[in-house]
Amino acid sequence: MEIIRDPRQMQERVTELRRQGARIGFVPTMGYLHEGHLTLFRTARRENPILAVSIFVNPTQFDRQEDLETYPVNLEGDLAKAEAEGVDLVFIPEQKSIYPQGYGTFVEVEGLTRRWEGEYRPGHFRGVATVVAKLFVIVKPHRAYFGQKDYQQARIVGRLTRDLDMDIEVVVLPTVREPDGLALSSRNVNLTPEERRQAPRLYQALCWGADQVKAGEEDTGALVEGMRRMIQEGTSATIDYVALCDPDTLEPLEKVNGPAVALLAVRFSRARLIDNLVIGNH
Ligand code: PAF
Repeated sequence: MEIIRDPRQMQERVTELRRQGARIGFVPTMGYLHEGHLTLFRTARRENPILAVSIFVNPTQFDRQEDLETYPVNLEGDLAKAEAEGVDLVFIPEQKSIYPQGYGTFVEVEGLTRRWEGEYRPGHFRGVATVVAKLFVIVKPHRAYFGQKDYQQARIVGRLTRDLDMDIEVVVLPTVREPDGLALSSRNVNLTPEERRQAPRLYQALCWGADQVKAGEEDTGALVEGMRRMIQEGTSATIDYVALCDPDTLEPLEKVNGPAVALLAVRFSRARLIDNLVIGNH
């Protein structure tokens, strides 16, 4: 496994590999790797002769300094996991090589970024779109892999590559969950033991919503209210949003009578969690 820290060196390496005809699969991460990331690695490993991974805690996507400061880091553990999964190239840039002094170019994806995470975390998607675009330019992948857990992010990256004519296939893989339903997230370590016990309630609320839709309920108001109540009664978390949206536009639905995605975000004492569930056939 090659570890590369310098963006220019990474570009040269992947350019050479592409010249030799290798196809490159890429998984961008912020480290503190868990089974969710490793599932992306394994699929990318199977589908591409070269597997590149990046580990970079991107400061421009954190809307709150405190969130950046408490973001967990375990580089040694991450490298051991990457090695065990057969990763070929690990790109670990320093902040100053991604955002050197005087850096002034940012990528804005309009529309899809307006609501939900975009509303509650101002600037977040500008940071995500910028770093993903930069990583794509540096790593030059043929395919890039993202988890559905960050549903809005995955849609935005899809739009970014389409709008900027990037010749990259964006692959989105299902959310990996703990046996009790909690979606895997690096932020789960910041839950207290009691919050960890409560957290599966989020997925239960999403599943309840999906079951109601399956049973014929179409009224968004009633569905959102029911899901909110389950979270409020079963956890100490504060709800940022619970919504039923069009899976492509992410605009809220008035009635759930076709494909939909349920999105939610809540705040526990030291961890903000998001989750989602696609409802109906999409
Ligand atoms: O999903 C993440 O871990 C990050 O948002 C990403 C895509 C690596 C960009 O920093």
